[in-house]
Amino acid sequence: MHRLLIAGLSVMVIAAAPAAAANDAGQSVVLTLDAGKPGATIDRHIFGQFAEHLGHGIYEGIWVGKGSKIPNTRGIRNDVVKALKALHVPDVRWPGGCFADEYHWRRGIGPAGKRQAAVNSNWGGVVEPNTFGTDEFMDFIHQIGSEAYVSVNVGSGSPAEAAEWLEYMTSAPTDALGRERARNGHKEPYKVAFIGLGNESWSCGGSMSPDFYVSQMKLHARFDRNFNPAQTMQRVAVGPSGGDTEYTEAVMKAWSKKDWSWGFEGLSLHNYTTGGGWPPVHKATGFGENDYAVMLKDTLGMDDLIRKHAEIMDKYDPEKKVSLVVDEWGAWLAPTPGSNPGFLVQQNSQRDAVLAALNLNIFARHADRVRMANIAQMINVLQAMIQTDKKKMLLTPTYHVFRMYVPFQDATFIPVAFDAGTYTFENISMPRVDAVAARDKAGKIWLAITNLDPNKPAEFDIAATGMTAGRAVGETLSAPTIDSINTFGAPKTVAPKPITAVAAGGKLVLTLAPASVTVVALEP
Ligand code: AHR
Repeated sequence: MHRLLIAGLSVMVIAAAPAAAANDAGQSVVLTLDAGKPGATIDRHIFGQFAEHLGHGIYEGIWVGKGSKIPNTRGIRNDVVKALKALHVPDVRWPGGCFADEYHWRRGIGPAGKRQAAVNSNWGGVVEPNTFGTDEFMDFIHQIGSEAYVSVNVGSGSPAEAAEWLEYMTSAPTDALGRERARNGHKEPYKVAFIGLGNESWSCGGSMSPDFYVSQMKLHARFDRNFNPAQTMQRVAVGPSGGDTEYTEAVMKAWSKKDWSWGFEGLSLHNYTTGGGWPPVHKATGFGENDYAVMLKDTLGMDDLIRKHAEIMDKYDPEKKVSLVVDEWGAWLAPTPGSNPGFLVQQNSQRDAVLAALNLNIFARHADRVRMANIAQMINVLQAMIQTDKKKMLLTPTYHVFRMYVPFQDATFIPVAFDAGTYTFENISMPRVDAVAARDKAGKIWLAITNLDPNKPAEFDIAATGMTAGRAVGETLSAPTIDSINTFGAPKTVAPKPITAVAAGGKLVLTLAPASVTVVALEP
């Protein structure tokens, strides 16, 4: 008997031969996808980003100022915008994080010289100049072609302050706040696709008991209005931290009793991959196979977490109206030696690329409930897409995974079955490979395969029902070592390479490098 993975479900099947052992020994993995059995839509918002006023996430990462020698458009750096456009970033969560519950939006609007500086007490106690405020964020969103996910201040702000912020952003220039926005350079109402009703209210957002949070959240869900009829706006309530279910229960129970006056459309889940324990101690570079295995094993726990919270959500919301929004996820590692520990600077390796792919696959398999996710964070902070150093910029291995997965945005999930056996390091075991497939809007079938094994390549014999698979064409991301990184001196150590396989003798065979991520289109 061995395990067959079907679209994330584990099914026991009887096999004539000990297939798991054979696959562990390196024989071909038969991977079958069934194009005739489409599943849920993989919401493009699971590829969302998170940009907090933290370290160099905003200042230098996005904002260099209009007078900077770094090429920019209205203060926003052009190289970063160009790189992000290629990711088709569906939404950006801003301004935090913990920062959001101490953010006072009025300090960040109006003439540059009149902005009120503040102290960023969450992140290093540095001066927050508020030169990047609402209008600059919306300009950035517009430049990269994304949507705004704005977290309102539930912790230290008032419902009135948040309601006025929404009015400033979304009302027509016929009321005072809309006119103020127009005076600040933007006559048309902005689109605010999502608002976060607080952040981590169980901790930095105010250490609120679930019931206290519910009473605060209801005020915001009622009064933080969208005045822009050209858009719909979804509200995301604070939900659980990791496996803690108290908030899930209380907030969903409240939702089940909502009335005409309030509601929300998403429940947030925050879960970082630390490899266990707090503070994070696992190294970002110079680590061995033990760290690799520990981190990947930990990240695969995202699947159980989603199941656990989805089960509670199903109890109160069997029709799955409320999205589970994993709006903070990613690897949180020991800070880069010599960096300000409050800036959460860490390197980004091939291991992190594999880790990102595994999470995206998990979200895709839970597409019926997980309709949004935001990796932490977009630039220079935690598991970033992009790193900058003054005028220099580089793309991380995680960036490449997000770029390779673009075809999965809003594609239809297709079940994949495979039996690859396990990858084991000492007493840590996990599936040797992972895969998801989807049909894009143009009808093209895409397959993403991750070979978790850092020591052995994996050979796949790809079979498809409901379509002819004559060729596989795409890109593969592998690296010299599991801890390979890109640096400003060597920015392309980890970069995708083209990969093509042509069917021969009725077989379509793909061989994938150890610890690699591959995305291919299947063509007739
Ligand atoms: O992403 C860094 C921080 O992690 C966020 O500000 C907070 O919400 C979480 O604890």
